Amino acid sequence: MNDKVGDVRIALLAALEKVTSETDIEQVRVQFLSRSGAIANLFDEMRSLPSAEKPAMGKMLNELKADAQSAFDEKKKSLSAAKIVGGGPIDLTLPGRPKPVGTKHPLMQTIDEIKRIFVSMGFSVATGPEIETDYYNFGALNFAPDHPARDMQDTFFISKEILLRTHTSPVQIRTMEKQKPPVREIMPGRVYRNEAISARSLVSFYQIEGLYVDQGVSFSDLKGTLVAFARQFYGNDVKYKFRPTFFPFTEPSADMYISCFLCKGKGCRMCKRAGWLEILGSGMVHPHVLKNVGYDTEKYTGFAFGMGMERTASLRYGVDDLRLYYENDVRFLRQF
Ligand code: DAH
Repeated sequence: MNDKVGDVRIALLAALEKVTSETDIEQVRVQFLSRSGAIANLFDEMRSLPSAEKPAMGKMLNELKADAQSAFDEKKKSLSAAKIVGGGPIDLTLPGRPKPVGTKHPLMQTIDEIKRIFVSMGFSVATGPEIETDYYNFGALNFAPDHPARDMQDTFFISKEILLRTHTSPVQIRTMEKQKPPVREIMPGRVYRNEAISARSLVSFYQIEGLYVDQGVSFSDLKGTLVAFARQFYGNDVKYKFRPTFFPFTEPSADMYISCFLCKGKGCRMCKRAGWLEILGSGMVHPHVLKNVGYDTEKYTGFAFGMGMERTASLRYGVDDLRLYYENDVRFLRQF
């Protein structure tokens, strides 16, 4: 019978070892510790032993019973502790779950970089409202009352006088009204135009405006500044040219082109076989504009420029559909 006691002890410990759930532990209780379990059976068996052997066996069985109960209680306790953390013990050695880290939107990266370049040349950054009046968006910028840009087809009007700005140029006016020369500002911001959305045009996009007004500012300052910018932003070896154009708020006005950095001027898909890419509009601030903000046009001259950020970013990164910037497809955004 001594062997049987030893066997039950080993079987109980082995069974407890395998326990992983409440059902398992209940089975162990029934099998070993219940009234009809293995230990109770041993007590029954003891009754048929000769009287001389009973006390020693009784002692042995009582020890087995006590040990079994405490091993059982311990297992039960660790099982309910594990339950608190969701069914299994916490493994503190597991690595944490990484959270994806976002990046700046390519348009914001482009704006930041352009800001950095102009700030290094002594410009500061100014902003203005996206909801503008007809006066700031057009009138003060020398647009004739019947200028086609005022047309309902291009401009989102809120009322006859209030509209969504169609360019960042009104911030020039607001800046000059607040400040006497010298004025040296760049003005990034969102603008709106009532156009059909396509790969090449959007109803809302970003521009950066620039303005420098002081005594003796000349067209060569305009060229020097913009060429320095283009070399830093597009590369030291770009060629450039200025071509006359018209803006109501500048005279003379010029579009700036750089040699296509993809084909080095030979002609490709990017530059539509022209070898040249238009990067911005610019010009000497029209005296009417300076007069509108109360500047002395005998004393002060200035230059201004403006460029679209989606177009600028696209030239830089080779993106051929402007809508991509606004679709928030992470497969696109993750590339920047
Ligand atoms: N406002 C013009 C546009 O939206 C861009 C521009 C051209 C701004 C020439 C300027 C400038 O300041 O001098 O197309």
